[in-house]
Amino acid sequence: MSKLKFQTLTGMHDVLPEDQIYFKKVNKTIEGVANYYNFQRIDTPVLEMAEVFLKGTGAGTDIVEKEMYTFRTKGGDMVALRPEFTPSIARSYIENGMHNLPQPVKLWTSGPCFRHEKPQAGRYRQFFQFSLEVLGEQNPSIDGQIIQMSYDVLKELKFKNLTIEVNSIGDSECRPYFKKILTSYFKSRKSALCSDCQRRLKENPLRILDCKEEKCQRVKAGAPQIIDHLCDHCHSHFKQVLEFLDELQLPYTLNPCLVRGLDYYTKTVFEIVEKSEDGSSQGTLIGGGRYDGLVKLLGGRDTPACGAAGGIDRIVNLMKTREAKPTSKQEDAKIFLAQLGQMAKRKSMKLFEEFRVAKIPVAESFSKDSLKAQLRTANKLGIKWVLIFGQKEALEDFITLRDMDTGTQKAIKLDKVVSEMKQKIKN
Ligand code: HAM
Repeated sequence: MSKLKFQTLTGMHDVLPEDQIYFKKVNKTIEGVANYYNFQRIDTPVLEMAEVFLKGTGAGTDIVEKEMYTFRTKGGDMVALRPEFTPSIARSYIENGMHNLPQPVKLWTSGPCFRHEKPQAGRYRQFFQFSLEVLGEQNPSIDGQIIQMSYDVLKELKFKNLTIEVNSIGDSECRPYFKKILTSYFKSRKSALCSDCQRRLKENPLRILDCKEEKCQRVKAGAPQIIDHLCDHCHSHFKQVLEFLDELQLPYTLNPCLVRGLDYYTKTVFEIVEKSEDGSSQGTLIGGGRYDGLVKLLGGRDTPACGAAGGIDRIVNLMKTREAKPTSKQEDAKIFLAQLGQMAKRKSMKLFEEFRVAKIPVAESFSKDSLKAQLRTANKLGIKWVLIFGQKEALEDFITLRDMDTGTQKAIKLDKVVSEMKQKIKN
């Protein structure tokens, strides 16, 4: 087939009508969990000053170094399409004086994010993310709560074999010291590292722990572990987080190599992955951690914070491979409205609208003219009550109700249909 003149950009995709139902289900689940935990929705602009991410996400991260969509506006500002939400939310917290509100401030959001990554399974250049953020609280119970909520979302969506990997990467007191120990360990084994890690050795030795290259695995296995080098404060924080996870009976494992690729993290970091039976993986579904220095770094007060974000496209991809499709509105309906003839079609459209106002879901296929075809559709949807609006009915302002289970029919006056059907579907 010849190449189409216009296609979506590499790494970007349409969410087609048939997939909307999955996205809706995921979004509804996230909203339900967020509401229950009393998180308020926030929406930040898709475009921000590039500096928000340069400083926030970190100039040395893959995201900022290689993946950010940046451009100069006609006015001369350097702006970026958001690659994630956390720095935007921290910026908004500062800009809107949210430190004056009762703390902590609990926020959630979702929407498109942009990263110019190499496209592969579950990796897009435009993807939907949701984010849960708590600002203004240092208590480790918040870390526990964020992990619990992240787990809840996936559990409610019927994910199985979930693993929560956790680690602590310390803070500005203990991490520099650990970095020195780690650097000296890797330096003496430099030739055994991949070329990327040899570069990382200079810039950020912690990222070597994250490397997926075969070559680096053996070197990593013998590396010193940060949990053995945490300062008292970070050690006690981490211990309490794990106690919360134990109490909540969350299936976590300690992963001393988990460092996460963003610069703002302090103390707790975590990721949730699903290990499927067939070994297929979409990668990390949800990742997050504490970021106690970010608000200050962006010009605000010293504000501890913790959060997580999940990839909605990845979650949907997995749901599509295994779960029966969630039901649509049409499938939720208990009533089918069938019509025959022009006048009946016009009147049924009005009646359909009356059902909408009364909040009663009704299925229809107005574009069909054959009654047989419409009854077949009703049958396929498994609907018991079919309202038949034919020519005679339209002229005499009544409608025929057919019980599809028994085949019995009865006439109902048009102005009584909505109230009568309301009673019927209640029973
Ligand atoms: P992240 O690990 O960069 O963290 O992204 C979170 C999730 O977004 C990933 O686990 C993945 O599911 C999804 N994701 C990331 N990149 C892509 C992509 N190219 N295509 C599809 N899905 C993707 C953050 O963004 C942090 N803001 C998390 C956080 C919130 N930490 C504290 N608060």
